[in-house]
Amino acid sequence: MKGLILSGGRGTRLRPITFTSAKQLVPVANKPILFYGLEALVESGIRDIGIVVGDTRQEIKDAVGDGARFGARVTYIEQEAPLGLAHAVLIAEAFVGGEPFVMYLGDNLLRAGLTSLVDEFRATAPNAQILLARVPNPQQFGVAELAGGRVVRLVEKPTTPASDLALVGVYMFDRHVFEAVQAIRPSARGELEITDAIQWLIDHGRVVVPRIIDGWWKDTGKLEDILEANRLVLDTIDRRIAGEVEGSEVLGKVIIEVGAKVVQSTIRGPAVIGKGAMIENAYIGPFTAVGDHAIVRSSEVEHSIVLEGSSITDIAGRIESSLIGRQVSIYRAGTKPRSYNFMLGDRSQLGLV
Ligand code: TTP
Repeated sequence: MKGLILSGGRGTRLRPITFTSAKQLVPVANKPILFYGLEALVESGIRDIGIVVGDTRQEIKDAVGDGARFGARVTYIEQEAPLGLAHAVLIAEAFVGGEPFVMYLGDNLLRAGLTSLVDEFRATAPNAQILLARVPNPQQFGVAELAGGRVVRLVEKPTTPASDLALVGVYMFDRHVFEAVQAIRPSARGELEITDAIQWLIDHGRVVVPRIIDGWWKDTGKLEDILEANRLVLDTIDRRIAGEVEGSEVLGKVIIEVGAKVVQSTIRGPAVIGKGAMIENAYIGPFTAVGDHAIVRSSEVEHSIVLEGSSITDIAGRIESSLIGRQVSIYRAGTKPRSYNFMLGDRSQLGLV
């Protein structure tokens, strides 16, 4: 059995972060989102993994390499443009080579592992096994309608949903999916849709079975979902202090990585402080991940992700629910006249009090 992780796409909903980097590499609890999926596949016994890449191919390749570090053998599959999830399957046919496979959306995170689901798929060998999760707002998802233990219909963002079962970004297929992705036509938004491919399988008498997952699942395509994923993962960490702590209060589930320094500060977990980071005269509140070599000085940060190498200095108000990119500098300018000085990339968002 093989694995196929989709790590191309446009990432329009996460601009400006995705202007300069891959959304799948945004860290959640200081680990790139993509790595959680890779690890889940390896843990379920899948070693041969294809990663579909687009414009951000180099960054993904630099981060994952040949996969040996994860116990996997990774093959990169180049997608010339983000033409849809089913298009990513179409171009992966040679890699998959007729074996059953697990398709995993590289920006999705699942609490539960995949092992029992993969074992079940192997043992029962349906043509497709679709993971579903109960959601309070099915109108915003691809929704499955079930009957007699099978999936009978899939509808993208239905106005009157037939169920509260949303499609999770993990799918298992046998070789018949390639007939489907070849047969379907692009949707109104110009993409080959995976829901259409699955519907095609159903309509052609193939066996598509549902599995409703326990535990949380997050599609991290939007800012609030990344922050929520960060919150959920941080909730599961264990306290580990490897860095230096001086004159500070470090409360609850907190990871302070090696080389990090916490001076005259309060850290209220769950939170993680990356390698070589500097926290001084600051407050780091719950559900915050501070990246490697970042600096927070005389400022307060809560429920946020601060990426590698950024610095936050002398900010009066608390920074909350924010995603701050790499090498960003936020500081108080002491000069007169008192004014705001910005250099913000296209589509940046800045909320001032
Ligand atoms: P989406 O989040 O559905 O699409 P997107 O990445 O283009 O984002 P946005 O809607 O914000 O513009 O994609 C889910 C995952 O699949 C994500 O990891 C990107 C990947 N993907 C591909 O690899 N190829 C594709 O053609 C598409 C559409 C997505």
